[in-house]
Amino acid sequence: MLLPIPGLLHAEEVSSLRALLDAAMWEDGSATTGPQARLVKNNRQLPEDSEAAREGGRVILGALAANPLFIAAALPNRIYPPMFNSYAGGQTYGLHVDNAMRLRAGTDWRVRCDLSMTVFLEDPDAYDGGELVIETRFGAQTVKLAAGDAVLYPSSSLHMVQPVTRGRRVASFLWVQSMVRDDASRANLFELDQAIQTLAGQVGQGDQAIVRLTGVYHNLLRQWAEA
Ligand code: NI
Repeated sequence: MLLPIPGLLHAEEVSSLRALLDAAMWEDGSATTGPQARLVKNNRQLPEDSEAAREGGRVILGALAANPLFIAAALPNRIYPPMFNSYAGGQTYGLHVDNAMRLRAGTDWRVRCDLSMTVFLEDPDAYDGGELVIETRFGAQTVKLAAGDAVLYPSSSLHMVQPVTRGRRVASFLWVQSMVRDDASRANLFELDQAIQTLAGQVGQGDQAIVRLTGVYHNLLRQWAEA
């Protein structure tokens, strides 16, 4: 499932985040990358352990925790601390699949990457290129969203970032270990949840059929979830 999450960050959150990021020290993006991805990756990143990355990450995590669409779609168990990247002057990240596991350096804390997210932090009119292209069963999907919008997609997907030929693309990216590992099961739970919410808005939360359908949702989640 490929899901846009519009307005994850408000305009004021984007501008204060950008002020923080634009004043920070960036490094070559290959610092955190395996040998295969290094061949196709050409961008800049904030060092994971920098104060700016930690502070910016807290803003993103706070917004995710308060976003019902993200919670319903991702059913998050663990989230790897958000990271930040930038592309300019023709920089690009060629076709790759994200690593399955992320180990927090210096700890034994692991996240299995079920879902990947990009949070766009630059006005799309301010740069050319930089589209996130994600291969899906229904063909390649091209994503370039407004500043503050995010996109969630399965980490198993091949994806790339097109060269940025004008301006600068700044984004946050992160990985989620979901309580429900299987993408199809998670997508069905999300569909059921959204349909129940819509129906409940029409007939009321107390309707007996809504109560029964909500029970089915939770019983499926009980069967499939790992905490
Ligand atoms: Ni990637």
